[in-house]
Amino acid sequence: MSSILVRKNQQLWLEQVSLQQLADRFKTPFYVYSMDAIKNNFQAYKNALAGHKHLICYAVKANSNIAVLQALVKLGSGFDIVSLGELERVLLAGGDPKKIVFSGVGKNRQEMRRALEVGIHCFNVESEAELSLLNKISAEMEVAAPISIRVNPDIDVKTHPYVATGLKESKFGIDASRAEQIYLQAAKMKNIRIVGIDCHIGSQLTETTPFEDALNCLLGLIQDLNKNGIMLDHIDVGGGLGVRYQDENPPSIDEYTQKLIKLAKGRKETLIFEPGRSIVADTGFLVTSVQFLKRNGSKRFAICDAAMNDMLRPSLYGSFLDIQPVYMRTSEPAYFYDIVGPICETGDFLGYERELSIVPGDLLCLCDAGAYGFSMSSNYNSRPRAPELMISGQEVHIVRERETIDDLVHGEHLILKTGK
Ligand code: LLP
Repeated sequence: MSSILVRKNQQLWLEQVSLQQLADRFKTPFYVYSMDAIKNNFQAYKNALAGHKHLICYAVKANSNIAVLQALVKLGSGFDIVSLGELERVLLAGGDPKKIVFSGVGKNRQEMRRALEVGIHCFNVESEAELSLLNKISAEMEVAAPISIRVNPDIDVKTHPYVATGLKESKFGIDASRAEQIYLQAAKMKNIRIVGIDCHIGSQLTETTPFEDALNCLLGLIQDLNKNGIMLDHIDVGGGLGVRYQDENPPSIDEYTQKLIKLAKGRKETLIFEPGRSIVADTGFLVTSVQFLKRNGSKRFAICDAAMNDMLRPSLYGSFLDIQPVYMRTSEPAYFYDIVGPICETGDFLGYERELSIVPGDLLCLCDAGAYGFSMSSNYNSRPRAPELMISGQEVHIVRERETIDDLVHGEHLILKTGK
């Protein structure tokens, strides 16, 4: 069970707040995050990196709620963004544009313009086509775009294939073998300013070796660039550190960062990290109610009011999330249930074969839901999205309201004349 959940008199508490009381007040389903836990994870990065010039650029896609971003701004975080929407969220939260790196294979003109206008730290360029468009737009705006090349080091990582990004066959980055040549091209472009080098090899990685291999690849390239008179201000090692969802044994933030710092020892470039999951995953929970219990053949189902539109990870990647009963019953018999939602797809599940002692109306808590939970949620089956709450000590803040039916159809138009 997550370390920030505690059981008192059979009830689950998130720090000093009872999940049952939150459900009574806000109805289910809802997401709830712990501000302290977010701070602690960020601080772990800060402490571990204290010995080296660094910038931690939280990957906004993991959890983009503006209250989460604001908490990180207060701690001095920078941000890794991948869209105009994420850029505007960071600015709304008070983020410093000078601490923003912009990743992604398909940045469009509008996104480039806005990022140049506010003066971000760096574009992580992923193709020659992107580089020349960026040069053109910067020329129109009479500025120089700060760039690093996202290098694809062709490293096989043990993770779900959908989130492995450092293989030659993936759409990300530029082949390590061609990177030097592209740097040389970039150096000749009038409106491009080379500031760094970048990679990101995948997500939910539970070993340090692939990270070290990737950094070694970058360091080799830097040597070649230096020989050509190209000097860099920073080395961006991306994100990707995994967390423990079930029985994984990922390195700690300290162990992971120390390994990389060791490789970069004595270098003057700033080290940039882009962690997402390892900052927020274990700080968030999705609380849902059991609506019905049902048997089909030999199978038992607990049909809940949260579904794959609220939490897509189990359906999309077959991911495991720990599911805890909010109230621990001792008198009812326990059975193995598939925990499912009301969505009309067999793939709509939150967990398979979980042994639980539950009755209809009971609350279940999905753990480690703070990363890629709400941020991947949708309105599928026309389901309004769940609210997000933030706990800070004894205080409870609504950081996103539950959507209404009006929100659902906002912006849609009937086009046929109504009435007879
Ligand atoms: N930097 C870049 C360029 C990225 O693409 C990502 C994540 C990160 C940093 C942050 O990686 P993290 O530290 O969170 O592993 N939806 C999937 C994960 C997709 C990750 C996409 N890129 C999931 O739920 O597992």
